Amino acid sequence: MKNLVVLTGAGMSAESGISTFRDSGGLWEQYRIEDVATPEAWRKNPELVLDFYNQRRRQLFEVVPNRGHEILHELEAFMTVKIITQNIDNLHEVAGSSSVLHLHGELLKVRSTGDDRLIYELSAEKPDIHLGDLCEKGFQLRPHIVWFGEAVPMISEAVDIVRTADVFLIIGTSLNVYPAAGLVEYVNSGVPIYLIDPKDVSYPGYRNIHPIKKGASEGMEEFKRIILNG
Ligand code: APR
Repeated sequence: MKNLVVLTGAGMSAESGISTFRDSGGLWEQYRIEDVATPEAWRKNPELVLDFYNQRRRQLFEVVPNRGHEILHELEAFMTVKIITQNIDNLHEVAGSSSVLHLHGELLKVRSTGDDRLIYELSAEKPDIHLGDLCEKGFQLRPHIVWFGEAVPMISEAVDIVRTADVFLIIGTSLNVYPAAGLVEYVNSGVPIYLIDPKDVSYPGYRNIHPIKKGASEGMEEFKRIILNG
């Protein structure tokens, strides 16, 4: 079976109704990164940070995967599909994908600020965390999110996965944020790279890029036709 490795970003979930970050009307037009998504923000105003992620989490319980997520799952009947996502939503998992690595953390998880091995799942019944919500050792809970300026613990595992690709597919990311964007450089030479995005994404120097200039759902329909007939 062929190994398809997929790198997804916010555009993957746009058609499910989750805002991207850098498009017009995107989240980083409404919030400043340094107010809600950095360790400094957490030190300065943890309530604002918790509120930002509580809102995102509540929204997540109201949305469902789109056709793009579904097709990625369907492709598992024909090939090994390994997804590396920058997204903190769980829509790949809800769609049924069996191999999903979250580079930037997971919205439905929270962890102890005193012991990062203590990770807890939140549910639709209790979607929020507040100041004063503590782990079993008595430390404040924080979102299980990789903030700007923090290490990306899953990156070396992601690099290992990228190196196994026979086909590499990028969906809905502006490739602005490193180290995630740099993963493309680990794709073995000769491996075809497809890129689904309705906009032109600049990808300096990468070879074998086949742009599919469409949204995630339509783009995945086209990719499926190409990959199963090619
Ligand atoms: N289908 C596919 N792609 C789309 C769609 C769609 N329907 N709508 C928009 N896009 C594309 C945009 O054209 C853009 O290239 O999705 C991309 C979204 O880019 P960003 O908003 O920059 O999101 P992303 O690349 O995932 O951001 C990376 O930055 O803010 C941090 O941690 C956050 O994981 C995030 C990281």
